[in-house]
Amino acid sequence: MCGIIAYAGSERAAGILYEGLKKLEYRGYDSAGLSTLGGGRITTVKRVGRVENLAPLLKDAEGCCGIGHTRWATHGEAGSANAHPHEYGPFSIVHNGMIENYAELRAELVALGDAFFSQTDSEVIVHLLGREYSGDLAAALHAVTGRLKGCWAIAALYASFNGFAVARRGSPVLLGRGRRGNFAASDMSALVGFAESCCVLEEDDIALVTAEEIAVFDGAMRPVERPFRPVEGEAGGEDGKGCAHYMLKEIGQNARTMRATCAALASFSRSEELTARLRSADKIVLTGCGTAYNACLIGARLLEWEYGCPVRACIAGEARCDPPRVTRRTVCIAVSQSGETADTLRAALTLREGGAYLVSVTNVGYSAITRVSDMVLPVCAGPEVCVAATKSYIGQLAVFHLISSPRTAASRRALLSSVADRVEELTAEGEYARTIARLCADSRAVFFIGRGADYDVAVEASLKLREVSYIFSAGMPASELKHGTLALVDPTVLSVVIISDGGTAEKCVNAVEQILSRRGKVAVVTTLPRIAESLGGRVDACWLLPCVPAHASAFVTATALQLVAYRAALLLGLDPDKPRNLAKSVTVE
Ligand code: F6R
Repeated sequence: MCGIIAYAGSERAAGILYEGLKKLEYRGYDSAGLSTLGGGRITTVKRVGRVENLAPLLKDAEGCCGIGHTRWATHGEAGSANAHPHEYGPFSIVHNGMIENYAELRAELVALGDAFFSQTDSEVIVHLLGREYSGDLAAALHAVTGRLKGCWAIAALYASFNGFAVARRGSPVLLGRGRRGNFAASDMSALVGFAESCCVLEEDDIALVTAEEIAVFDGAMRPVERPFRPVEGEAGGEDGKGCAHYMLKEIGQNARTMRATCAALASFSRSEELTARLRSADKIVLTGCGTAYNACLIGARLLEWEYGCPVRACIAGEARCDPPRVTRRTVCIAVSQSGETADTLRAALTLREGGAYLVSVTNVGYSAITRVSDMVLPVCAGPEVCVAATKSYIGQLAVFHLISSPRTAASRRALLSSVADRVEELTAEGEYARTIARLCADSRAVFFIGRGADYDVAVEASLKLREVSYIFSAGMPASELKHGTLALVDPTVLSVVIISDGGTAEKCVNAVEQILSRRGKVAVVTTLPRIAESLGGRVDACWLLPCVPAHASAFVTATALQLVAYRAALLLGLDPDKPRNLAKSVTVE
C-alpha cells in the first residue's frame, strides 16, 4: 500500500524525501507528494502519477524537515486533490492505511464548520490534529489516534515544531538514525543509504523525531525504548535496479534465493522442534494471498506426502471469515513475502486464537507477521521491489521442499542446489520466452493447464501473466478442460500446457489434442524430451526446459513462465514493475 517517509536533519529535506519516495514507489504510484518546513512555513507539493513528476516542484520546498507520501488509492480516485500530504492550517499529514470511521468523523467536523478538499479517508486526521493540538505534537497525535478506527501509519508536521511525529497501528513504520539526521519510513529499503540503524515501531506507538533526538512512547504515552539494529538491504528505486526492470533482475535472482534459503534452513536451530510439531499435527493449514497462496498449493502437496495428516491450503482472506477448524495440535503455516498483508495476518491470528501453533514463512524478518508467530522460517530472497512476486515465490517453494523432507534434508539441499543451476541456465535464455510471450500478446485469453503440481504452477503463471500484461488468463487442471472450458477454445485463445511429470504426461497430451482439434493455439512448456519430440512440430511453440525430477520441476517451470509474463508485458508496452491497480504490500483488508 502507500509508502511514507519523513526526515528531520541538517540537509535540504525535499531532495532526501524525493529519493526516499523513489525507493518506496513500489508500494503505490497513483500520486506522490511532500511537505517541507522552512522558515516557520509548510510548503506542500503533489502530483498525480509517478514520483518523478514531483522533480520540477522540489525547488519550491525549502527546509530541513519534512514528510512524503506515495499513494495507492483506497478512498477517492487517483487525482491530485486526493494526493497526500493533506493540510489543515499549520498542520500537514501523510497516511498509509484505512480509517474505517472516517465518514462519521468527517460529518462531525463538517458540522463544526470544517471544509474538506479531498475524498480521502485520511483528511480527517489532519483536521482532528489541528483541533487536538495544545502545545505538544506527540500528545495531539496520540489523542487523534484514540478517535480513529482502522489501521494507520501517520507522519505529521506542524509549522512551529522543527521535527515530525509518527503513529502506527496495523501499518508498518521504522525509525532511522543517520549521519544526516533522523527518519521514519514504511520499510527498511527506503532507509538504505540514509540511516545506519533503525527500529521498528510497535502497535500503537507514537514517536516524536527531531534532527537531534528520537523519543518513542507506547500506546499509554509512556516513554519506551525500541531496539535499534543496523539498516540492511539493497537500495530500491531506479539506482538499485542494475537491469532493464526489477522483474527481470529478480527472476534472475531465483537461483540465488534457492541457495540462500537452503543455507538458512540448514542452520535453523529449531528444525527438530518444527519436525516434531508437524509429525504430531492433527492437521496442517497453509494460508496466504495471491502468489503466496499459490506457493501454499505446492506446499500442501509436499507436506501431505511427508506427514500424512490432512493438509489444507486456504486463501487467507477467506480463512479469516470462514476459518477451518483447528485444535491445539494443528499447525498453521502463514506465508507472506512482505509479512504485512492484512488478510494473511488476520487469518493467522484467527487460527492462532483457535489454538493452532503459528509458523510464518516470510521474506521480511522484521515484519508484523514475525511478531505474532511462534516460529519464523526465513525466505532469503532479499528485497523484492517489482510488484509482481517472482523470487519470493521460488524461495517459498524452497522452504516447503526443505520442511517436507526432514529425514533426507542434506540430499534435498543437494538436489535443490543442482536445480538452482538449471534455473540459472534458464534465466539466461530469452528466445522461447519471447515466442510464447508473443503468442500470449496476440491472444484474447490464455489458459495455463497442467496436472498435479503443474496445475499449481499453472495457477501462479496465470496470475503473473494477468497482473503484468492485463491479458485475461486462468489456470486450470488439464482434466477440467472437457468439463466446460473447451467452449471458449478457438483460434484467438492460447493454451499454455505445462508437462513435467512422466506419470501424467499422456493425459496432458490428450488435452493438447482436444485443443488442437478445436483449432485453439497451444504452447507446450515441458521438462520431458520425449514430449517435446512428439508435440514439437504440431503446436505453436514448444519450450524444452532443463530436465529435473518431477517433484522439483516447479522451480524450473515457474521461472520459465515468469519470463514469459515479463516478455508479454514488454511486448504490450507496459511497465512490468508497476502494474496498474496493484500494490506490493496490501496492508488493508
Ligand atoms: C502477485 C503478488 C500478490 C502477493 C499478495 C500477497 O505477484 O505480488 O498476489 O503475492 O498480495 O503478498 P505477500 O506475499 O506480501 O503477503
